[in-house]
Parts: sequence; C-alpha cells; structure tokens
Amino acid sequence: MPKNYDSLYALSLEAPSKFWADAAEELHWYERWESVLDDSTAPFYRWFSGGRLNSCDNALDVHIERGHGERTALIYDSPVTGTVRSFTYSELRDAVALFAGALQRQGVSRGHRVVIYMPMVPETVQAMLACARIGAIHSVVFGGFAASELAARIDDARPELIVSASCGIEGDRIVAYKPLVDEAIALAKYKPSKTIVLQRPQCAASMVPERDVDWDDALADAAPVDCVPLQATDPLYILYTSGTTGKPKGVVRDNGGHAVALKWSMRHVYGAEPGDVFWAASDVGWVVGHSYIVYAPLFHGCTSVLYEGKPVGTPDPGAFWRVVDQHNVKVLFTAPTAFRAIKKEDPEGKFMEAYDLSRFQALFLAGERCDPDTLRWAEDKLGVPVIDHWWQTETGWPMVANCIGDDPHPVKAGSPTKAVPGYDVRVVDDDGREVPDGTMGNLVVKLPLPPGCLPTLWNDDDGYRASYLEPFPGYYQTSDAGYRDEDGYFWVMSRTDDVINVAGHRLSTGAMEEVLASHPDVAECAVLGVSDALKGQIPLGLVVLKDSAERVEPEVVRELVALVRAKIGPVAAFKRVAVVKRLPKTRSGKILRGTVRKMADGIPYDTPPTIDDPSILDEIQQDLRRLGYPSPRPPHES
Ligand code: COA
Ligand code: AMP
Repeated sequence: MPKNYDSLYALSLEAPSKFWADAAEELHWYERWESVLDDSTAPFYRWFSGGRLNSCDNALDVHIERGHGERTALIYDSPVTGTVRSFTYSELRDAVALFAGALQRQGVSRGHRVVIYMPMVPETVQAMLACARIGAIHSVVFGGFAASELAARIDDARPELIVSASCGIEGDRIVAYKPLVDEAIALAKYKPSKTIVLQRPQCAASMVPERDVDWDDALADAAPVDCVPLQATDPLYILYTSGTTGKPKGVVRDNGGHAVALKWSMRHVYGAEPGDVFWAASDVGWVVGHSYIVYAPLFHGCTSVLYEGKPVGTPDPGAFWRVVDQHNVKVLFTAPTAFRAIKKEDPEGKFMEAYDLSRFQALFLAGERCDPDTLRWAEDKLGVPVIDHWWQTETGWPMVANCIGDDPHPVKAGSPTKAVPGYDVRVVDDDGREVPDGTMGNLVVKLPLPPGCLPTLWNDDDGYRASYLEPFPGYYQTSDAGYRDEDGYFWVMSRTDDVINVAGHRLSTGAMEEVLASHPDVAECAVLGVSDALKGQIPLGLVVLKDSAERVEPEVVRELVALVRAKIGPVAAFKRVAVVKRLPKTRSGKILRGTVRKMADGIPYDTPPTIDDPSILDEIQQDLRRLGYPSPRPPHES
C-alpha cells in the first residue's frame, strides 16, 4: 500500500475491494472471502462475505503462533485500588480460553448474547474476548447507566447470561454494581438464566442461588476452549447508543470488516507499530473502549493499557503523565474533557515535569468537539502532535482524522482534518444536495460505508434504514452538522438531533424528557444541552408543573434530579432544572429548544418569527437568570 494520504484516499474510493482485500491480508483467515464487498442487498452492504475468521484468534492466538507470546498484551493500571498488573499475550489467551470454557459450561454458545456490566478490570476484557472466541455476541453496558437502562438493553439483546462484578470504583467511591444487575433483571421482561459475578475485595455481592455463579467457581470446573471459526459477517458485538428517543439503538459490529478496518487504522491513522504501547483512556463501556482498548491494539500486536482511574483526583492531575512514563506509552487517546479537567487543576503543566515523557509521540482526542484552547494547551505543554479526530459508535473507527501513520497534514485547531481513507464524507443541505465548500450542512458519508461500520441495528433493519439511510438516499446520515473548507478539512460543529455530549458521553435529551414527564407533577418539559466549561455540555431541564402539583420548588427539583439519576444513571450529570410557567413554542407547538439554549449560553438570538407568544422569552430569561444563566461560556463556544 502507498504511504501517502492522497494516493491512499483515492485508491480507497476508486477501488475499495482491492484496497480492503490488501488490508485483510494482514489477518488470519480460516477461509478466504468470496466477495470483498457484497452489495447484493444494497443499501445493506456486507464486507468479506463467505470469509471465516475469529476475532479472538486475531487478537491473541495469532501473535503467540508468530512467536510473540511473551510480549505484554495488557497492562491493568488501577490507581483506585493501587494495582498494576501485566498480562503477556500467552497469559491473556490462557485466561480468555478458560473463561470461554466457563461460558460454555453455563450454556453459552455461538450466536447467544452475553451482557457485560463491568468496571475497568482485566476480567472485562477477558469476558469480551471469551465471547468472541466462541462466537457469542457481547453487549457491554457502561457502568454509569442505571438499572432501567440496563434492563432496556437486556430486553433488546435477550442475553443468555450476564457477566458482572460486585462493584466499580469511582475515585474514592465504591459503586455497588450487583444490586443494579438484580434490579435490572427484576425490571426486564426477558430473564437471563445465569449471571457470572466477579467478587472484588472492595465489596461483596450477595448472590441469588441457582442463578448467580461466582467468577472463580465458574472457572474452577471449566476447561480452556479453542477459537470457533465464524463467518466474517457474523456479529461480534452489540453496543447500545443514544438516539433521539428513550430507546437506545443496538449498533451491530461484524467480525471480518471490523478486524480489517481496526487493524488498518492502528498503523495508518494512529502511527502505531506492533509492540508499541497504546493507551485509550476511556471506558470499555463506550465504543472507544471496544475499539481502542480491546480490539485494535491487540489485532495489531500492541500493548494496551487498561486504566481504572480518572484524569484528576486519582490522585492528582499528574495521573496521566505517571501512566505514560511508567508504561512507556507511545500513543494516548482520550476525550478533550479529560484535558480540560487536567488543565483546570494544573494550568501550568507542573505535574508533567515530574515524569519522563520522552517516548510519548502523539495524543489523539475524540468524543466531542475539541476546543482550540484545549488543543493548543496540550500541544504547548506536551510538545507532541495533538490530533482531533471525528467518529461515532456507529462507525467504530474514525471518519475524519489526521492520519499520522501516512503523511500528516498541518493541524488547523478546531478541525479533525481530512476524511479517512474509506470514508467518502460529503456535506449536503436538507434536500440532500451538496453544498459549496465553506457552507454549513449535514455531514453524510456516501454509501457504501467502509468495513468496520455498522451493517445494521440489532433486530431492527427498519430502524437502521429510517435513522441512517432514508434521510439522504445514497448516503449515511451522521446526524452531525459542519462544513468542509477550501483545503478539504472538515469542521464538525454540532449535532442535528437531540443528542448531547456530556464529558465525551453521548446522551439523549429525549430519554431525559421521558423520565421528567413520568413525574406526577410535571405537565410539560424540555431538556437541552447547555455549554459547560469542563464537560462541554450539560443537560438543563425546563419543566412546567401541573396546576394540581403537590410539590413545589425546590422539592420537585430534587425529586426530578434524583429520578433522572435513578432511571438513566449518574453519567447523565443531570443536576439543573428550571421550573417555568410556560415553554416557548412555535405556533405549531414545537418547543424552541435552540432559542433557550442560546439564552442559557449567552449567545445572541433572534426571536423566531414562528413563536406563539414572544413574551414567554422574557419569562424564560428571568427563570434562567435565577439559575445563574447565562453562565460563562467555555472557550470553544466563543
Ligand atoms: N460507574 C458508575 N458511575 C460512574 C461511572 C461508572 N463507570 N462513570 C461515571 N460515573 C459517575 C461518576 O462517578 C459521576 O457521579 P457523581 O454525579 O456522583 O459525581 C457521574 O457518573 C458523572 O461522571 P463523569 O461525567 O465521568 O464526571 P466526573 O465528574 O466523575 O469526571 C471527567 C469528569 C472530565 C474527569 C470525566 O468525565 C472524564 O474523565 N472524562 C473522560 C471522557 C471519556 O472517557 N469519554 C469516553 C469517550 S472517549
Ligand atoms: P459516540 O457515538 O458516543 O462516540 O458520539 C459520537 C458523537 O460525538 C458524534 O456524532 C459527534 O457529535 C461527537 N464527536 C465525536 N468526535 C468528535 C470530534 N472530534 N469533533 C466533534 N464532535 C465529535
């Protein structure tokens, strides 16, 4: 393959089958594919149809067979428990093969779903890879989600078994996970027959006889098992993500296209070579964790760091630099919010000075828009390339990036740079017509999407069509808005739907509105994302109380905050509610969320000509002032 961005990009679009067939040669296949790109059911596309491989084999066994069994595969670094533990490729493979045997003994086999609700411990990675080994489909649920969110995912995925742990550790707080699993199973209509529970020393989980099996007991009578050859098009995992409604979308990832794309991205996008230490400081419950803590670094023979801690407070804002130094990290990937947290506590970068960062070569940021101030601060303090890149749970790997493995482009702060080979990114107006460079529009990707992207939604082809394919025929709708400049750089500015991004976590305001509306005293409500200097955005609820409401402020506000935390989870960071007399609406009844958001952010706004009653805006302005809005705006919004 050429190592020049322009020729690689051109080749990837002109001859995608050749391009991806070459990339696929780097993996181990039990049987070669019949067609690289199968468009027989377009607009549903499949990659490497007829091919057979196993993702766990390519993540672990292949490296051992090639003589790298003693190389470190995983470093578990947990400041919250004071633990650092490494696994060689051989050790990790053995642990995974044994847990795969344990899953089989509990009745799990190919095609069964396994929900994993776990903290950032090596057993989580082992459980994911064990599923991959036997062809079970894992669905990891982020630990910051509440029981009812877990229940919704259980009902959709219908897992044979749930793997969980007694607790997670959030800074100095122990979060018991098992009661949430018990509650979720009680809430769910579908009842999984078994759970396997890792008892952590920090907290003991009570077990339900017959249903719950201790992790150690599950291993005790298991025998290691080999990889099962799978179809390239078989699902590897389902990962639920927020859409515009309360119902999460089950993004499906296949085995073949995913392995090919992720392996390719390690060298070309991230500039990593086998043996390098790669650290994605995210959580395995998010797509970044799936792709760049677990699968991609292992496909590529790298050492991956699994970090159970925060950027600050565990114990200080030097935490990241300690890990980079101690484990010789070459590439770090995290969300801009983590850097804003570090910068807030250590604006001068003093904590960096205590560590040797000479082997550190690049910082990648994604998950939310990267504000130029944070980018420049990181560049200035670290003296390495800082690369913003844009992607989504659905795509599984970057759509737009500065591919430093090929020939990097000059950085323009605020832009994730250029389309990654394989992605034909375009900007279209609401009628699907391409707009000139420099004009804002909908960011879309011309079909077919490259390998690794979602082939469909779990059990919901119609939902896939409706959400992603029908809005702009011939294109995949990203639901992001932005523009391309005259140099071909993309600028991703905002979402076009009701999804907000809180500390790099994607959340649905629609889901929060459903929760608020379920409160007996709430007549009407709206949730919108307002700017926040640390988290990028945070949700703000506006509620109109019923005339018959039994509670008043501040009691009702406390209840609403607690309700969202209980129903969606602490990750929603839902803490602010304005009780208002009326919601501003258009004459047709649409709530003017955008106008309220501008008011809260202190951005000049025009009174929409379609507004039903302009005087409501003055009332809202007063209500927002009571809450301290407009608050100082974060630098990236200015
Ligand atoms: N299990 C249980 N609870 C969790 C959790 C988990 N896995 N992850 C987060 N939470 C809880 C937190 O404890 C917090 O609870 P609180 O309201 O009681 O304080 C709440 O959910 C919100 O968490 P978070 O958004 O992480 O805020 P924070 O104040 O704890 O930390 C940052 C702020 C910026 C340090 C943190 O968000 C961060 O490191 N972000 C990095 C972003 C990231 O990894 N994004 C993934 C995509 S790359
Ligand atoms: P998630 O699916 O949780 O990864 O969230 C994906 C969404 O996060 C995207 O659709 C964008 O709205 C936002 N996002 C991710 N990366 C970036 C980025 N580099 N710049 C701007 N927005 C981003």
